[in-house]
Amino acid sequence: MNRLLDLRRVRVVTVGHPTVDVMTFDLQEADGRSLEPFTPGAHIDVQIPGGPVRQYSLCGKAVASGPYTIAVKRENESRGGSIGMHERIEVGTLLSIGGPRNHFPLAPGSHPNLFIAGGIGITPITAMITELHEQNQDWALHYCARSEKHAIFYLELAQLAPERVHTHFSEKPILDVDALIRAQSSDTHIYCCGPKPLMEAVAQATSAWPKEQVHFEWFSAPEIDNSSNTPFEVELKRSGVVLTVPSDRTILQVLRDNGYHVDSACEEGVCGTCETAVIAGEPEHRDALLSEEERAANKTMMICVSRAKGSRLVLDL
Ligand code: FES
Repeated sequence: MNRLLDLRRVRVVTVGHPTVDVMTFDLQEADGRSLEPFTPGAHIDVQIPGGPVRQYSLCGKAVASGPYTIAVKRENESRGGSIGMHERIEVGTLLSIGGPRNHFPLAPGSHPNLFIAGGIGITPITAMITELHEQNQDWALHYCARSEKHAIFYLELAQLAPERVHTHFSEKPILDVDALIRAQSSDTHIYCCGPKPLMEAVAQATSAWPKEQVHFEWFSAPEIDNSSNTPFEVELKRSGVVLTVPSDRTILQVLRDNGYHVDSACEEGVCGTCETAVIAGEPEHRDALLSEEERAANKTMMICVSRAKGSRLVLDL
């Protein structure tokens, strides 16, 4: 789908340093095209100058004309993303961005909403809570962070409705996820974004819940079991070329090996950049993005991680 080809230029108009390890950046249009409106939970792709493409959630209120605000935590294990943003971006810097796209939208309707955020995972959730609060919807937030001074947007959210914001500030995980989930009414929608151990704990605690009531925004991929991989064929519909994908390679890697370019970013099944239309065959979906309904429809797949259930897939490439 080559979504990154639809890049636009934006200018950094404000840089903030709200916590010890997080910087915020306000982005305004710089190519004459006004910024597209976004819905709470959406993210953009940012081409970091001299570095990789990274996905950052849009924070705050979803307004029609921008600016976009993103928050970036400095990661010591950074592969060039967060350090590039912290060290090379200043007011006036031009950036290329793609999107916005939303794989973490609010579920429509009136029902209780429980948000569980860990650290920088609060970024999409601020926009979601802001929207729900304006609509007088029922929401509660459980916010895990190392300390208050590491908790971006905590004061803003606490001012909104202090009785709805529950903090779990500690160097070690202290939130009893199982007890929290058990205490919810059966019509609650549960949203979680944060570090992998928190996400996995919430996924485990909600495993018996209806899938459509549990929503995750993964920053890094859940563990993928490749032990049962088998080879299969991929037919590229537009050229008729057929390629074999061995057990130890992904579709994306095989395409690259053979000189084909498909845009990609995370290569972990969490960003949606490599989403490709499926014409025939049944994918074995391994991404962390598609809903149960989208998986069942088999209309698209993330070719950086997903494979085939049968012997051949036909892709719109
Ligand atoms: Fe991110 Fe495939 S490159 S989902």
